[in-house]
Amino acid sequence: MKINGGIPLKGTIKTQGAKNAALPVMAVCLLLRGQTLTLDNVPDLYDINTMIALIEDLGVNAEIMRSENKSQIAFHVPEEIKWEVSENLARKMRGSSLLLGPVLASCGRVSLPLPGGCSIGARPIDLHLKGLKQMGADIEIQNGIVHASVKGKLRGRRIYLDFPSVGATENLMMAASLAKGETIIENIAREPEIDNLAAALRCIGVPVELEGTGGVRIQGIESVHSGHERVIPDRIETCTYILAGIMTNGHIKIEDIVPSHIDAILAKLEEAGAKFSVRRNVIEIFPAKKRLHPISVKTMPYPGFPTDSQPQMGAALSIARGVSTIEESVFQARFLYAQELNRMGADIQISRDVAVIRGVERLKGANVKATDLRAGAALIIAGLSAEGETIVEDMVHVWRGYEAIDKKLKSLGAQVELVS
Ligand code: EPZ
Repeated sequence: MKINGGIPLKGTIKTQGAKNAALPVMAVCLLLRGQTLTLDNVPDLYDINTMIALIEDLGVNAEIMRSENKSQIAFHVPEEIKWEVSENLARKMRGSSLLLGPVLASCGRVSLPLPGGCSIGARPIDLHLKGLKQMGADIEIQNGIVHASVKGKLRGRRIYLDFPSVGATENLMMAASLAKGETIIENIAREPEIDNLAAALRCIGVPVELEGTGGVRIQGIESVHSGHERVIPDRIETCTYILAGIMTNGHIKIEDIVPSHIDAILAKLEEAGAKFSVRRNVIEIFPAKKRLHPISVKTMPYPGFPTDSQPQMGAALSIARGVSTIEESVFQARFLYAQELNRMGADIQISRDVAVIRGVERLKGANVKATDLRAGAALIIAGLSAEGETIVEDMVHVWRGYEAIDKKLKSLGAQVELVS
């Protein structure tokens, strides 16, 4: 994407459906047999299309109905589905690990390639497998493929997650839905995606109770039924455009947001002196007289500051008035974007899991490379604020999570263009 920077963004956009909520909620359809799961507000993204392909490859018919202001998918599930997940499709997206729980629970067995590492860290699924084993699954790994099976049904039980892993929480909630008896999972992830998944499980008849103590209680049931659920708005996409508005000193509105989902971001932006107001499900960003103050940020599992907004915040703080720090405590290596920002004139030093960001007056356009989805987004908003022209290469990473980002930015007055 070629960006001509320095233009204050102006106008109104609407948040897409949340990628990280849609992926597990779509996998819920694999618990059905001869029934339909209908989902509203499913974003049109690479990763979503990969998940649709994975689900269709198992035998489900996905009816996609998209129009100007409608994005609905109906998953019509046959009486029988396959339990071997396509390797080349699964290797395209780590989120394919979310098929483990529902396919094992509904078929009694599943084969799925172990997800590979990626640029932000090792990304193991040991907590997913440990929980499934505790529910009675036999698990073997042979040349990179996970083979899980269970005689009869999985058994409900109390499970403690060593880390509030989002994916492990989601897989085990789906597995527990058809298990025999009650499952209680402690120390679960608290991301809003978990609430969306709980709602999707309830809509097909699974009794799910999220407890304030950071646990969830699920009664395994014999049979589920068709259901209809809506995907929540994408809090990470929202944060990305908020920071784009701030970095270009623009005046924008973002509609269909859930303010409580971005509390941590808003608190840090307020601390940094950003000017914005929130009314119901709309946030309005105002031009500020002065650049952001420097702040210290530490990423944490929800409701802490989200790791998925860390690169974008790094870009915003690279032009703050002083020295900021960001500590990345969730992933091992989520600072690859810093070197690319430094090529645009930023002054970011990394030591292990801490970035020290010395704010500069202005970034300068350069040719930079996206290394992962959120790093790509950080480079785009940096380019929007930089002086001159920026080219962000390897946009394939960005298309995984940002629906029509070129069109949305153009509608806000940005001079952006896709170049091959
Ligand atoms: C989800 O990944 C998101 N992906 C990630 O978003 C997000 O960064 C992450 O949650 C944290 O919020 C989807 O929802 C599809 P985790 P997930 O399991 O489930 C370690 C994006 O940009 N861990 O909470 O993989 C793991 O290595 C993506 O949209 C284990 O050690 O995250 C990591 O350090 C990037 N063993 C930490 O926990 C396990 O079995 C968080 O992982 C599982 C996880």
